[in-house]
Amino acid sequence: MVKAVFGFFGLGIVLLAGSTNAPGAELAVTPSMGWNTWYAFGCKVTEANVEAAVDAMTSNGMKAAGYEYVNLDDCWQGTRDADGFIHSNSRFPDMKALGDYIHSRGFKFGIYSSPGPKTCGGFPGSYGYEEKDAETYAKWGVDFLKYDWCSAAGVYRPEQIQAAYQKMHEAIVHAGRPTIYSLCEYGLEEPWIWGPKIGANLWRTTDDVSNRIDFQEYQRMMFVGFGQEGLERYAGSGHWNDPDFLQIGNHGLNSDENKTQMSLWSLLAAPLFSSADLTKLTVDQLSVLTNREVIAVDQDPQGIQGRRISQMGPVQVWAKPLSKGRTAVGLINSGESPISASVNFAAIGYSGSVHLRDLWQKKDLGVFKDSYTALVPKHGVVLIEIQ
Ligand code: GLA
Repeated sequence: MVKAVFGFFGLGIVLLAGSTNAPGAELAVTPSMGWNTWYAFGCKVTEANVEAAVDAMTSNGMKAAGYEYVNLDDCWQGTRDADGFIHSNSRFPDMKALGDYIHSRGFKFGIYSSPGPKTCGGFPGSYGYEEKDAETYAKWGVDFLKYDWCSAAGVYRPEQIQAAYQKMHEAIVHAGRPTIYSLCEYGLEEPWIWGPKIGANLWRTTDDVSNRIDFQEYQRMMFVGFGQEGLERYAGSGHWNDPDFLQIGNHGLNSDENKTQMSLWSLLAAPLFSSADLTKLTVDQLSVLTNREVIAVDQDPQGIQGRRISQMGPVQVWAKPLSKGRTAVGLINSGESPISASVNFAAIGYSGSVHLRDLWQKKDLGVFKDSYTALVPKHGVVLIEIQ
């Protein structure tokens, strides 16, 4: 087997070498992994939900598989005191104690706010209180901040978005606690271009992966996942494109659909955040979330985001270069019946024969020359590694 030295990602690698990271890039050397409260609990989330998730991850294999951050999304906020410091609401009686609980189980603690006066859920945002909020988060032991645009559109013009996000990063640095900085402005002002310069480790590239109002969840997820094409050149160690949370365990996605999201998100080097009720996962859902070989694709130390190689009808082939000359390839069928799909090795820089492994079957497939063809289930995926 011969692998072309720069392969089809040569340009991306050159561009990445020229990008600048603000302090904090070392916190997300590989895409962050963890759990977030939003899709399972929305605005009804309680301290008990968070603690139950911590306990579930400790015993169900997720912690061992690398899920590390426990992130509280919107709706934890109460009111500000006379000095302007934010307090949590009655569903979160003691944020410092919650942070301690999370840390004592070996996880890291994430929180949520907005650069606007209100969060998307209508709770107090950080507008005008950036320094005080950053100070409070540091006191509570926060390790991750998701900063969600929401009502900021009412107080900033679009061209001020970068400055608004930079302001909070400066406040975090000033507060002195290493904190992953996760932008959520839905890709409005191309955060992938300026994110690394202002200290972002992650930035949402799209609106929410789930609209939570109809039964088109699979289609919505594929629209978001396939829509990442073209952004691969902006991701790299320290700063990653974020197409929103994993839906495994939510919305009745079936096993093939779950594997598809886990595969595509890993090929995309996306942050891997479950947002399901972890106390209710089935054995199959858990096995998808904790497949170590698939997670290793996402977490590969080379940190190269995969891209689309071909598209024919409902079938797309995506590939991600991995360390040690390997490449992960996903044959993805978003159609309504099983379909035969192929990858041509020359298209991803290999000539001669290659050794293949199937990452969902966890099985070596043997040696193949020129191409590989497999039958891909409806809404399903075949994920292989070229070794
Ligand atoms: C926005 C974000 C979601 C979530 C909610 C919370 O919709 O995109 O991820 O944080 O706000 O209100």
